[in-house]
Amino acid sequence: MTLKLGFIGTGGVAKAHIANLAAIEGAEITAFCDLQLERAEAAAREWSDAKAYSAIVDMLDDRKLDAAFVCLPPMAHGEAERALIERGIPFMVEKPLGVDNELPRQLAAQIAEKGLITSVGYQWRYIQSLDEAKQFLDSSRIGMSLGCWLGSMPKVPWWRVQHLSGGQFVEQTTHITDLLRYLCGEVIEVYAAYGHRIMHELEEGTDVADVGTVTMKLANGSVATISNTCLIPAGHQTGLNVYTDQGVLEVKANGSRVIRTKEDASAHFAITQNPRLFEDTSFLDAVRTGDQSLIKSSYADSLKTHEVTVAANMSAATGKPVKL
Ligand SMILES: NC(=O)c1ccc[n+]([C@@H]2O[C@H](COP(=O)([O-])OP(=O)(O)OC[C@H]3O[C@@H](n4cnc5c(N)ncnc54)[C@H](O)[C@@H]3O)[C@@H](O)[C@H]2O)c1
Repeated sequence: MTLKLGFIGTGGVAKAHIANLAAIEGAEITAFCDLQLERAEAAAREWSDAKAYSAIVDMLDDRKLDAAFVCLPPMAHGEAERALIERGIPFMVEKPLGVDNELPRQLAAQIAEKGLITSVGYQWRYIQSLDEAKQFLDSSRIGMSLGCWLGSMPKVPWWRVQHLSGGQFVEQTTHITDLLRYLCGEVIEVYAAYGHRIMHELEEGTDVADVGTVTMKLANGSVATISNTCLIPAGHQTGLNVYTDQGVLEVKANGSRVIRTKEDASAHFAITQNPRLFEDTSFLDAVRTGDQSLIKSSYADSLKTHEVTVAANMSAATGKPVKL
């Protein structure tokens, strides 16, 4: 069965999903919406029966869609999700779910009421070797985890403004927080220290922190620290290490490995070339079958990750630990 798909937001990450969908049989994009109409038009030219729109409701009233991809910046959520929920259209939405908790909590309740299929763009969960990694963790005792996202500041202008993006921990390092929850379970308390070291002097209008460290307690008794910076000139390291009594699990953006002995330390990563392709295929399979369990990251589950990152912002602002 061919699925008719629509895009809301046709910027950087939309392009990655569109490239995947072009390679998936039975996926046809028939509608693109972007506030910048010329972007939607450029995307629509690549698909034989696609139309471009600058208003979400116009698109949804004009085209009958089986599912939609919501690829909007953090501050732009709300209208798209509400319109899709109202019409019962399953959707894949990019992380983060918003800049604070209020809107995502409202939307999660409406999604649950409708029983709508949803997927959220935490593609690290689709690294294939993570299934094995989970088995390893099931037979180990987790002590602690160390995660990081150490890179440069993304170029999109909204990213550097706190009330538009939520800042690096909410916008970007949410991937590592989600991975921690996926592998090690729920976070019950966070304490964060952030700093504004350099980037606000370099780029006018920048008010996001450019360094930060978040310490967490988990329900299973383990502890974790996740640090991030966006002030270095190029990407350095991104990933999560989990330290257990059976060895160390190392996860990077496209693969993972377990180090049990000194010899294992030289072993290669089990690589997944394109976790996002696996994510997109799983979403379409779930839409076709109505089986939400094919998706590794639902809206309801992602809300918990989002709440941890917002709690980190609250802790950094108040200087106090926040319980979840
Ligand atoms: N999963 C990942 O690894 C990953 C990677 C990159 C980006 N992202 C996420 O994807 C989201 C979008 O990022 P991006 O890099 O594509 O941003 P972008 O700025 O390149 O693209 C966003 C697009 O949305 C459009 N837009 C904004 N408000 C709109 C509205 N109300 N209606 C219609 N269109 C609207 C903009 O005009 C723009 O074209 C962000 O939340 C980001 O965190 C996720």
